[in-house]
Amino acid sequence: MQKTIAVLEGDGIGPEIVGEAVKVIKTVENKYGHRFTLHPAAFGAGAYFSEGSAFPEKTKEICDAADVIIKGPVGLAVEQMDQIPQEHRPEIGAILPLRNRYDTFANFRPVRLPASLAAFSPLKPEIISQGLDILMIRELVGGIYFGDKIEGKTTGMKYAKDDCTYTEKQVRRVAIVAFEEARKQHLPLVNIHKANVLATSRFWKEIVEDTAKDYPDVPCKSMLVDNAAYQLVINPCQFNGVVLIENMQGDILTDQAGGIIGSLGLMPSACIGPEKSYVEPAHGSAPDIAGKNIANPYSMIGSAALMFDRCLNLPKEAEEIRNALFAVFERGFSTRDLMLPEQSPEKILSTTQFGDMVVKIIQENV
Ligand code: NAI
Ligand code: MG
Repeated sequence: MQKTIAVLEGDGIGPEIVGEAVKVIKTVENKYGHRFTLHPAAFGAGAYFSEGSAFPEKTKEICDAADVIIKGPVGLAVEQMDQIPQEHRPEIGAILPLRNRYDTFANFRPVRLPASLAAFSPLKPEIISQGLDILMIRELVGGIYFGDKIEGKTTGMKYAKDDCTYTEKQVRRVAIVAFEEARKQHLPLVNIHKANVLATSRFWKEIVEDTAKDYPDVPCKSMLVDNAAYQLVINPCQFNGVVLIENMQGDILTDQAGGIIGSLGLMPSACIGPEKSYVEPAHGSAPDIAGKNIANPYSMIGSAALMFDRCLNLPKEAEEIRNALFAVFERGFSTRDLMLPEQSPEKILSTTQFGDMVVKIIQENV
């Protein structure tokens, strides 16, 4: 297969973990006889400082011309955000416009922790020992993140307002993606919302339940988001299957899921649009550990695996990468974020050592 891949390294740990994902992509390219042309492009806070825009025109051209985009996390430390004017900050100036440009409405966020690695979780063994395998599907281009954001003043009183809108088309198309996935994999589906308070959530629930009528073979359950946050900690294995959730609630709950399996560094993701898709880790730029060669590149390498099966329809290549990632852990190695109390220091890998080991396992596997 011949494909062009736009590579947006991003900020903070972005360049470090994207570097490891690129190593793995090149290894798979050689092993399977593909031809990938990689086009690096500036994106995020660094792009704003060097080119005056977090999503420069040149980057848009590179992304438009690419078959698929691989993106590292972007953003400055929360304390430093004020260095960039609001409209140029990486979320408003880069991530949301990227999602909007390619209408990447379905965000696949797998939450996987095999039973053998249950010790990575901060939860008690009896709660997590069965292992977790949840596919969270988050709506990514609607809701409050994409509504008008207004700060104003009326009769001497300052106020702020965020508009939250969902159209029937927006809800139905992501619901169809989730039900199709559940049907294909013979999995149950949990639909999460806040229909006891929000009009948009009542609407979400109504459309999802209407869509469910076409999938009588998929066991489907409904849960309020606050209870879901609680249940994820108390009894996470009940969610094994597909979870469908709207944009902002999904942003928050997927980070919580990362905590439950032990690290955000275990959270890859794919953002799927009708014509073009991109992959990125679920986490941010982790400024607290940037430049130290200690970040966990699993999330980025796992995102490359999602690029292979979700975007390029190459499931064998994706599986090979995932098996290699888990093989690193099965051999007793991990990065620092997943360090276990009894683990010896020589089993703790740097970002580059982790990527090298994944590459070696893929090369050795015949
Ligand atoms: P964060 O997700 O960057 O970090 C949260 C915690 O998780 C930190 O302790 C960090 O060290 C740890 N962590 C994250 N990824 C890790 C990895 N691969 N290996 C080991 N540890 C890891 O959240 P934070 O600090 O709130 O945000 C930093 C910046 O990232 C902000 O500017 C934020 O707006 C941006 N952001 C960007 C996203 C994106 O590019 N899609 C998504 C989320 C946040
Ligand atoms: Mg987030």
